[in-house]
Amino acid sequence: MGDSDKQFTDQLGRPIRDLRISVTDRCNFRCVYCMPKHRFGADYQFLRRSELLTYEEIARLARIFVGVGVRKLRLTGGEPLIRRDLERLVGMLAAIPGVEDISLTTNGSRLTPDMARTLAGAGLKRITVSLDALDDRTFMAINDVSFPVRKVLDGIENAAASGLSPVKVNMVVKKGVNDTNVVPMARFFHGSGHILRYIEYMDVGHSNGWRMDDVMTASEIVTAIDREMPIVPADPNYRGEVAQRWRYVDGGGEIGIIASVTQAFCRDCSRARLSARGNLYTCLFATRGQDLRARVRDPELGDEDLAEFVRGIWRTRRDRYSEIRSEATVSLPKVEMSYIGG
Ligand code: GTP
Ligand code: 5AD
Ligand code: SF4
Ligand code: SF4
Repeated sequence: MGDSDKQFTDQLGRPIRDLRISVTDRCNFRCVYCMPKHRFGADYQFLRRSELLTYEEIARLARIFVGVGVRKLRLTGGEPLIRRDLERLVGMLAAIPGVEDISLTTNGSRLTPDMARTLAGAGLKRITVSLDALDDRTFMAINDVSFPVRKVLDGIENAAASGLSPVKVNMVVKKGVNDTNVVPMARFFHGSGHILRYIEYMDVGHSNGWRMDDVMTASEIVTAIDREMPIVPADPNYRGEVAQRWRYVDGGGEIGIIASVTQAFCRDCSRARLSARGNLYTCLFATRGQDLRARVRDPELGDEDLAEFVRGIWRTRRDRYSEIRSEATVSLPKVEMSYIGG
């Protein structure tokens, strides 16, 4: 890495370190806050296969991103395990020199023992499973496809058994929907070796009808848990870590709180996002992306041209959406979560 690469930052002094790659816009769930049925129904036009980046294209772009500073890769969706032979992509990414971490965010529905073993064998290091409730009534009302909690819990155990651990479990907390599950979830995962993380409900996309009143805040979550099982703050694992860590005083492990609404963490945000159709987004709340697919498919452009293009975009980056969120920004036509995977 040359000196110029080390110094390379955006307009707010932030380096590029993480690339989150969405491999599909499809999902077998219809979570009400992400892909509500009324918008993602039977006639919804998902991307066609030819519109998706191929694994070869993704791997080439990933190599280029690593060349400009990226160290961590995360695969997302939609639901990434819906895309066929994902282990092939994992293997290609794991072979890129300079990649320090490869993880995957999934709804856990397809995490069979076989799948978990295959992914780990291909080079995947960690897995994050989304799970918003422990009781079927609440969970099914959220996923809206009658998917049972038990199968997701099995997926979590399968991942851990394959060495993809510690498994992180993401719970988006929405008031009036699953806030009564906050403490039961803490109790359930306490001492399990898995790390439960609570996510403040965010105004991603423009189909979830977000209101501040729906947000159970980080401080409300901490208070509720601390009352039952005392917790104390723990130091971050690395600069720019999204989740604030809290440790159980009794040694039962740790939890995380992702307070993107009430305690924005844009100041250290080093994440770029590549959508399934190959657009580059420099913020989760971006209203537009930059077309990398056309460029990766342009025979005139070599790797260095693409690298220069990416550097150019990053150098001009000023995104800090969560710090400037307001009544007015909530209704902006932001990219859907199902395209960039959170
Ligand atoms: P680790 O590498 O395990 O620390 O992963 P992570 O916490 O960065 O990734 P994960 O996908 O588990 O992130 C958890 C959730 O936090 C996401 O699904 C988003 O809802 C939210 N999140 C992650 N990154 C950002 C971000 O840059 N901005 C905002 N506003 N929210 C984010
Ligand atoms: N607010 C917060 N988190 C969300 N996720 C999806 N939609 C939202 C939202 N509106 C989470 C999912 C998953 C990750 C990909 O993003 O639950 O953990
Ligand atoms: Fe699918 Fe995850 Fe969105 Fe739910 S939140 S619809 S599981 S992509
Ligand atoms: Fe990064 Fe945008 Fe999230 Fe802020 S709101 S942390 S800039 S992705």
